[in-house]
Formats: sequence, structure tokens, C-alpha cells
Amino acid sequence: MKIALIGYGKMGKEIERLALERGDEIVLTIDSKSPPPSAGTAGKADVAIHNATPSSVVGHVRQWSEWGKPLVIGTTGWYDALPEVRAIAQKNNIGVVYASNFSIGVNILFSLVNQGGKILDKLPEYDVFIHEIHHKEKLDSPSGTALTLADLLIRQLHRKKEILAKNPEGKIRPDQLAIASTRAGSVVGTHRVTFDSGADSIEITHTAKNRSGFALGALLAAAWIEKKSGVFTMEDVLADFLKTGE
Ligand SMILES: NC(=O)c1ccc[n+]([C@@H]2O[C@H](COP(=O)([O-])OP(=O)(O)OC[C@H]3O[C@@H](n4cnc5c(N)ncnc54)[C@H](OP(=O)(O)O)[C@@H]3O)[C@@H](O)[C@H]2O)c1
Repeated sequence: MKIALIGYGKMGKEIERLALERGDEIVLTIDSKSPPPSAGTAGKADVAIHNATPSSVVGHVRQWSEWGKPLVIGTTGWYDALPEVRAIAQKNNIGVVYASNFSIGVNILFSLVNQGGKILDKLPEYDVFIHEIHHKEKLDSPSGTALTLADLLIRQLHRKKEILAKNPEGKIRPDQLAIASTRAGSVVGTHRVTFDSGADSIEITHTAKNRSGFALGALLAAAWIEKKSGVFTMEDVLADFLKTGE
């Protein structure tokens, strides 16, 4: 695969490291100081992988999809613009895969939490909450992954209706689902979902040890989206991967 990296920070560099190890080629890297790419330079890439800033997503999707290039979007914190991204992808007939978290381990966490929510919907004595921890440079809060977990839980647990993502000033309502965020040090990313009753707690935790899991998932998604059109998530990629093993 010939890959363009939009955003060449912590994630961009990890994707580069793994891509080269796997025999892929990085044909272009772009950071905030790079000159805007031309159709010519972009033309060398089969796919672009975006790990930059939330505010740059729509502009990059517009530009790269006009050049007919599929995109993998790892950047988080832009999801209000999803309808616009869908419309651009559809108009230009290109493929986009986005995910709040490309790591296979976190996608297993999603599946376990979904199942837990389904079971505990019938057991009202259990409350649920989410805690996520990330390094102190992270721009968005709560993390996109925590929001994905909360959306899953709200879909499964009918007693939870609303996300509470800031520190409460008093008691929280039973229909609120609390997400607490901690920003400190160089923590790569930890997400814990706790189901808590008077009798016991069930905790499901994913701890990223480094960024290689995100990078591997993004590369799998890049290979998968190359010849497709439409907007997909990592769930679609993994569903196909588990079916075909490719
Ligand atoms: N989905 C996932 O699995 C996953 C996993 C980890 C992180 N992420 C997300 O990926 C994003 C990047 O994270 P990171 O840790 O790599 O951040 P980072 O180390 O701060 O790197 C950000 C990169 O984006 C560049 N950039 C900023 N504005 C840009 C623009 N307008 N056009 C092109 N490049 C621009 C920066 O350039 P300068 O250095 O010149 O400013 C830098 O190279 C975040 O949204 C994060 O939440 C997603």
C-alpha cells in the first residue's frame, strides 16, 4: 500500500513505523506546517490516514475525496460533522473508515460491554459508569472511545438516557451515565467500565500499553477500504476480517 499520513505526530509516526515493517510505503507526510499537497503529490497515495486535529477533518476529507482517495480517520472529537463527511464521501463516491479507537483490543472491549449492558438491562440493582485516563496533551475530553462506550450502554440499558461528562455539582440522576476523564502524564489510554451493585462490582478494563494496537488497526482498515465506497466504522472492518480471516 502507498500511504499518505495526514498528521505526523505520535500516531502518524507509529503508523509509519509499523507500515514500513509490513512492507507498505509512506509517500507523503503532512503536519500543521506542511505546504498544502497538490493533486500530483496526493496522486501517488492509494489511501490517506488522518491522525491530526478535529477541526481539520472536514477540509481534508473534502480535498482528498475530490482527488478520489479513500481515507481512514483516526482523529477523534469531530463527530458532529459526520453528516457532512458522509455527504462529501457519497458525492465523490469514495470510501471512509472512521473509529474512535482502531485497536482490536478496544473493539473487543466494545463487544464485551455491549453484551454486559444487554444482560444488566434486566438487573436494575446494577449502576454503570465509565472512567478514562489519557496523557496530558490529549485535546478532546471525554475521549471518543469513552463516548462510543457510553452510546453502546445507552442503547442497551434502557434506564440510562443521558451522558454526564463533567463533574457533577450534586447528586446525579439515575438516568445519567457518568463519564470521568483524567488527564495526566503520558498514559496512552485506559478505559474502564464498572457495573456496580450493593453486592459487588464488575469491572472491564482496556489498557493500551503503547500505540501499536491503534496503528495496526488503522493499517488493516486502510487495506480494507481501498476499493470500497461509503462510510464505515472499525466494526465493519473487523466483521469482514473475522469472516474471511484476511
Ligand atoms: N482512533 C484511534 O485509534 C486513535 C488512537 C490514538 C489517537 N487518536 C487520535 O488521533 C489524533 C492525533 O493524535 P496524536 O496523539 O498523534 O497527536 P499529536 O502527537 O499531537 O499529532 C498531531 C499531528 O497533527 C498535525 N496537525 C495539526 N494540525 C494539522 C492540520 N491542520 N493539517 C495537518 N496536520 C495537522 C500536527 O502537526 P504539528 O506537530 O505541526 O502541530 C501533528 O503532526 C487525535 O485526535 C487522537 O485522539 C486516535
